[in-house]
Amino acid sequence: MAKEHFSKIGYVLAVAGSAVGLGAIWKFPYVVGQNGGSAFVLLYILICAIVAIPVFLAELSIGKLSESDTVNAFKKLTTKNKTLWGYVGGATMLTAAMIASYYLVIVGWVFKYLSISLSSLPTALPSDMNTSKTLFMEFLTKDWLGQLIFFAIAFASCIIILSRGVKSGIEKISVWMMPALFLMLIFMLLYSFSMSGFIKAAEFLLVPDFSKIGLDSLFSAIGLAFFTMSLGMAVIITYSASLADGTNLFKSTISVVAINIAVAIIAGLVIFTFIFEFNAEPSQGVGLVFMSLPTLFANLGIVGNILSVMFFSALIFAAITSAISIIEPFVFFLIREFHMSRTKSLVAVGSGIFILGVLCIFANIEGIGEKYMLFGKDFFTLLDFTAEKILLPLGGIGGALFAGYVIKKEAIYTLFRPYMTDWMIGVWYFLVRYISPLFVLAIMIYMLFFS
Ligand code: PFF
Repeated sequence: MAKEHFSKIGYVLAVAGSAVGLGAIWKFPYVVGQNGGSAFVLLYILICAIVAIPVFLAELSIGKLSESDTVNAFKKLTTKNKTLWGYVGGATMLTAAMIASYYLVIVGWVFKYLSISLSSLPTALPSDMNTSKTLFMEFLTKDWLGQLIFFAIAFASCIIILSRGVKSGIEKISVWMMPALFLMLIFMLLYSFSMSGFIKAAEFLLVPDFSKIGLDSLFSAIGLAFFTMSLGMAVIITYSASLADGTNLFKSTISVVAINIAVAIIAGLVIFTFIFEFNAEPSQGVGLVFMSLPTLFANLGIVGNILSVMFFSALIFAAITSAISIIEPFVFFLIREFHMSRTKSLVAVGSGIFILGVLCIFANIEGIGEKYMLFGKDFFTLLDFTAEKILLPLGGIGGALFAGYVIKKEAIYTLFRPYMTDWMIGVWYFLVRYISPLFVLAIMIYMLFFS
């Protein structure tokens, strides 16, 4: 089978497409809101530098040095405990597929809000907070058919893109969706400049107040950095396996991190400008995008409609390029390991994801979700909890330790030397061997037992 490689810019945009998603545009603003704003942003950037970038480079080295699917990447690069490491790779791949299922359910909600924004003019968006809350909660807890339809749209979009492969599927879509997303965000940012809420938003996000930072914020920052950088989930390993020789590994990693942070901050500025303009509550959590924002757009008449269509389209672009990246590792594994065709692997992986997604939808439906609760959690929450709080950190630790201790030092030096000085590689080794795994382990233990 001919091997497909990303072009240099295609790789950066595809990885940035994976990174920038619901995490940066939806989660980042509300986590920042709950953690008091600006000081948390600085903490997030610090964590990106000392934990996320080293783990990212670790996963990149596993992918690039092996040029294999995740399971075989681990097996190929070690002489000892091949089966054990193969399982580590397999687990990260499964985690990714699990996340894909509920991630696509949320993308379905975004499609729903895009359709509301597009539907009637001047606007069908709810114009006060109570109506908005009712609309969202009824959709979430009663309208299983609506959710199923929008989930199916999100799911089908991803499957169609993935069926076309790395170059004409993943790369092609990322190369136009990502710039389109940036343009829409920049337009919205420019619009925000004209509103009085902008100054407050900028202050909230950019002037640090360290009194708001606690241990909790540190753990949230690590969790968020992992999720937004698509770490611990076989994604970077898989994409880097199709990385063309000669791509500057260090520069492209830094570009992806910078793009991700820039998008998260711009999205935060836009969202909080609206929040402050209309005196809404910045720390209300999950409802920020699905409850407050639509109300605020509704109060701006036709302009609000346009902004709303733009905002939800941008969110869809960001989320779709992320969702495809979490489905691809498993598909790539089936193609490589069992020589299955791309279509057959997509059917196999897609069916699993679809079933899990449907179970997630019904988990929120009144009268049904209660019937299959486990460990006191509904299925959606359980999946989200297991994936993000247990499997994702474990995957991250696995990748860091593997690159730090198992892969041969000479191989790592040969790979990175053209792009990094020996001193930089030394710092990376130190971080990846000691600091990142410890940080991640600490967050896991804390989240599991103390939060
Ligand atoms: N990074 C994406 C986001 O922040 O929305 C989500 C994601 C993609 C998570 C890929 C995990 C992953 F492997």
